[in-house]
Amino acid sequence: MSVQSKIKRITVPEIRARKGAEPVVCLTSYHAHTARMVDPYVDVLLVGDSLGMVMYGMESTLGVTLDMMIAHGSAVVRGTDRALVVVDMPFGSYEESPEIAFRNACRIIKETGCTAVKLEGGARMGETIYYLQERGIPVMGHIGLTPQNVQVMGGFKTQGRTQEEWASLEEDARIVSEAGAFAVVLEGMAEPLAAKITDEIVIPTIGIGASARCDGQILVLEDMLGLSPNPPKFVKEFATLGAQIAGAAEAYAREVRARSFPAAAHTYSMKKVR
Ligand code: KIV
Repeated sequence: MSVQSKIKRITVPEIRARKGAEPVVCLTSYHAHTARMVDPYVDVLLVGDSLGMVMYGMESTLGVTLDMMIAHGSAVVRGTDRALVVVDMPFGSYEESPEIAFRNACRIIKETGCTAVKLEGGARMGETIYYLQERGIPVMGHIGLTPQNVQVMGGFKTQGRTQEEWASLEEDARIVSEAGAFAVVLEGMAEPLAAKITDEIVIPTIGIGASARCDGQILVLEDMLGLSPNPPKFVKEFATLGAQIAGAAEAYAREVRARSFPAAAHTYSMKKVR
């Protein structure tokens, strides 16, 4: 493929420039084939640590490892040409010090070929975000409901429901933005607060269960495809793949049991055996 005809990946400055402009379309992705299917339609694919719950059946994201993120991040990069791929830094891989965060972020960037990393936390992560981006690692922030903090928060709870909580969440957003993050996810945040933060900071806000006024939106792909057994209440399902998969498995089982499995498929598998 010539250099000219190669599709150019969306860049960090292009996403940053979408502040207050065309909304940024983001989805999560953990898997090469589905990443390829959605790549033409999205700006950012996030290899989220939600994969621990969605792909591995964990209760929370706390058990996700760096190696898991790298394996899935590489798959998503291999499956895509256009979307900017961001890989989540898992719990325990960045909180201790900016230096440890840099070492682990370098592994993610080098071993997956992704463009950027995402990490959770507001004011307390300002120094680390600054340290990473000064050394060539673009960072997406994540504030509000931060699932890696689930034990401290006592569950997955919407943040900023009372106005007393607003000042510290606004401070989180300001510090993440001033530290040099190129965008910030606002998760599980009261709608008027998410809209206010969107007006207050200079980088794009990406909402999930936050506000339609954010500069972009992200959903977990499996939730919006109808594949998740208990999706969050705010999720709109754009397909019903869960029901279709169960229906297909039932139809297949019926054919196998009736010994009416398609002859062509049988012949093909015999040829392959020989
Ligand atoms: O892990 C994840 O999928 C995320 C998104 C929900 C923003 O962080």
